[in-house]
Amino acid sequence: MKNSAASMLTKAKSKNNSSKINAPHIIVIGGTSGIGLTLILHHLQQLGWQVSIVGNSATKINLINSQYPNIVTYTCDLTNSVQMQKLLDSLSGINFQRLIYSAGSYLNERVHQLNQTDSDKILAINFQAFEQTFRWASEHLKIQNQLLDFKINDRPSLICIASIAGTMDYPYASLYAKSKRAMIAAASAYRAALAPYDIQVNCMASGYIDTQALRDLNDGDASHKPFIMSTQTAVEHIMQAITDDIELAIFPRSMRYITRALNQLPKPLLNWILRSKLDKKK
Ligand SMILES: NC(=O)c1ccc[n+]([C@@H]2O[C@H](COP(=O)([O-])OP(=O)(O)OC[C@H]3O[C@@H](n4cnc5c(N)ncnc54)[C@H](OP(=O)(O)O)[C@@H]3O)[C@@H](O)[C@H]2O)c1
Repeated sequence: MKNSAASMLTKAKSKNNSSKINAPHIIVIGGTSGIGLTLILHHLQQLGWQVSIVGNSATKINLINSQYPNIVTYTCDLTNSVQMQKLLDSLSGINFQRLIYSAGSYLNERVHQLNQTDSDKILAINFQAFEQTFRWASEHLKIQNQLLDFKINDRPSLICIASIAGTMDYPYASLYAKSKRAMIAAASAYRAALAPYDIQVNCMASGYIDTQALRDLNDGDASHKPFIMSTQTAVEHIMQAITDDIELAIFPRSMRYITRALNQLPKPLLNWILRSKLDKKK
């Protein structure tokens, strides 16, 4: 394969099962592993939806292609603007009812000083590509809504996976937390702007989820993380929040109560507590 941006973006295959031709369609950006993959398998296996995913790892995509031939896969590096535009052009051919932005990049910023490359990547994946995707998807859904007559229970929806880290405002917050905070605010603006078009927007602010990515950051075991949940439990929370149309779903409940209590502390006390948790000098 040529190393041009155009050739790096590949629509791996289009195997829309004919029995599913009228089923709703979901796209998950960042669907090759972790929460995104669990969500896509839920839509495919439990709900019978047509499913498309985007990711950048050839290894993960090849594995999914061989294990789940009904999942349509797209390879794209979301940090590359040329590939990103090609991706959106190719997704424009799909009539979809739901898009979930689950792509994310995180490092343990409590111990690592970010270099320029890490910093660019965290901002690009956790915020810039998310905003570009939501901007494109909202325009796509507005036009699609005019042309197609969806059933009520297929109300189109845009969903993003933020983090509970983005629900707190304090000076030493990591770039990851600040990017997720920006995502939460942007999703809220999109929700207000798309309400007249009957397009649903929900943002998920999750606590720790036991994914391979989190385990990799914790020497293979993340079980010590407070109130950590399985990907299956996270998907149950997310699906319930979509059904209930919750603007910002913060889960699990224990973490929601803790962050709510912390947010009610006087700012200087909150700043002192959170700063004392930092392992690096500021
Ligand atoms: N796990 C947690 O404790 C937790 C808690 C709160 C929120 N979250 C959020 O949940 C989301 C999923 O996290 P996860 O733990 O499931 O991690 P994950 O398995 O690493 O999933 C991240 C996804 O993003 C994709 N991605 C990353 N960089 C990309 C790039 N440059 N181009 C295209 N795709 C890219 C990955 O695809 P490829 O690998 O194929 O590139 C993968 O599909 C993230 O947004 C994360 O911030 C996680």
